Amino acid sequence: MSTLEIEARDVIKIVLQFCKENSLQQTFQTLQNECQVSLNTVDSLETFVGDINNGRWDAVLPQVAQLKLPRKKLEDLYEQIVLEMIELRELDTARAILRQTQAMGFMKQEQPERYLRLEHLLVKTYFDPREAYQESSKEKRRAQIAQALSAEVTVVPPSRLMALIGQALKWQQHQGLLPPGTQFDLFKGAAAVKADEEEIYPTTLGHTIKFGKQSHPECAAFSPDGQYLVSSSVDGFIEVWDYISGKLKKDLQYQADDAFMMHDDAVLCISFSKDSEMIASGSQDGKIKVWRIRTGQCLRRFERAHGKGVTSLSFSRDGTQILSTSFDGTARIHGLKSGKMLKEFRGHTSYVNDAIFTSEGGRVITVSSDGTVKVWDVKTTECLQTFKPPPPLRGGDASVNSVHLFPKNVEQIVVCNRASSIYVMTLQGQVVKSFSSGKREGGDFVSACISPKGDWIYCVGEDRNIYCFSNQSGKLEHLMKAHEKDIIGVTHHPHRNLLVTYSDDNTMKLWKP
Ligand SMILES: *[C@@H]1O[C@H](CO)[C@@H](O)[C@H](O)[C@H]1NC(C)=O
Repeated sequence: MSTLEIEARDVIKIVLQFCKENSLQQTFQTLQNECQVSLNTVDSLETFVGDINNGRWDAVLPQVAQLKLPRKKLEDLYEQIVLEMIELRELDTARAILRQTQAMGFMKQEQPERYLRLEHLLVKTYFDPREAYQESSKEKRRAQIAQALSAEVTVVPPSRLMALIGQALKWQQHQGLLPPGTQFDLFKGAAAVKADEEEIYPTTLGHTIKFGKQSHPECAAFSPDGQYLVSSSVDGFIEVWDYISGKLKKDLQYQADDAFMMHDDAVLCISFSKDSEMIASGSQDGKIKVWRIRTGQCLRRFERAHGKGVTSLSFSRDGTQILSTSFDGTARIHGLKSGKMLKEFRGHTSYVNDAIFTSEGGRVITVSSDGTVKVWDVKTTECLQTFKPPPPLRGGDASVNSVHLFPKNVEQIVVCNRASSIYVMTLQGQVVKSFSSGKREGGDFVSACISPKGDWIYCVGEDRNIYCFSNQSGKLEHLMKAHEKDIIGVTHHPHRNLLVTYSDDNTMKLWKP
């Protein structure tokens, strides 16, 4: 690989991502200062200017977020984007930029007239370009902004940045932050994870993240690449956390600007695409939104995805479709490109609580409060199997809360129903194995997750405990009280020994060995 073949932008991304993933922002900053490399770099001036001239704001904004720009130039830029969003009738976006970004906040204070003009244009029912762009045109204003911004940036030769990576790695090894001999995969942009890392159940509270009194978390998810921990809450907000510090990630510009991803109603579920680039969120009012995690931009919304609250979401492997379930008793598949519902799975007689695609993608498995698990053919939407996990000890049926693929075995699923046992089952409904809390009363499981390699099955109970079951021994190896009020759910980091629980007590807790 020749260093010169790598685009500077890729290299910046790699360095930044690497430093972030390994909590090395400090390193990056030190190196920057020492080497006097300006952060005001873009990959190629030509592309940057081209993006502005063509109004490709979704490409421009993330780059601008990395730059230190004079306030006046930022205001000009944001004003232009607001005007264009109004013209496109993307009023939510325009309003969010206007009301939630720092640059516009300053404008409101210091140039109230200029700010109010934008507010005024926002509420008008029609758009008059002459009025909006004031004796100029959209294109002319873009060109002026491009020129003004291009004076602020420099292009750093890739070789310079390659040298930086080398130094960053040496520095980390020197500091003992990376085990000696760790391989750094430039293309993956991450230090190779030690494949032989032993899976150990958590016993210690790492961080407690507190939510507002009226805003308990409803869901939490890690990105498959392990970089992000995202929560969604009953007040409609979706927040991205630095799970190492337990704080909001402020290196995401939109969060630093208080322009959070959000819904108008409680967000009950979130899920990442396999490439960790997108996140889907589903709310109590039946809507689904899809976001780009790096920019916080809403890429797609499904206004009437379901007639009632959305209970779970899952991206297809290729990221072009989303599987959703709902209190309306259906599971559906939506096309990201078309923005339309493509498939519907009907047959459950109560809430559908969770659904997954099987690993090869040909089947969908749904679980419901009607007590059953159903297996469906994705192509024909035909129901191929219906079965029930064994009934709880107290008798009767139990609502099935969640379903999970079992690692290393495509023929097995883990089914969590509201009972004091959890089951490994085949797609035909046979029980392969079960794990029991041993409690006859008051120990029913609410939710579950599995460690990445499948060594551990974690259940959270209505008794507010975390149950750690060993797959190998089949035994309950550890039990601990986790929360003061009901636990809502539990999730696991994709490759670290890190467990997250969230609760009605308005906290999300991070647990480690
Ligand atoms: C779980 O344990 C069984 C033995 O009881 C073993 O065959 C299987 O491979 C284990 N699963 C995982 C994912 O380790």
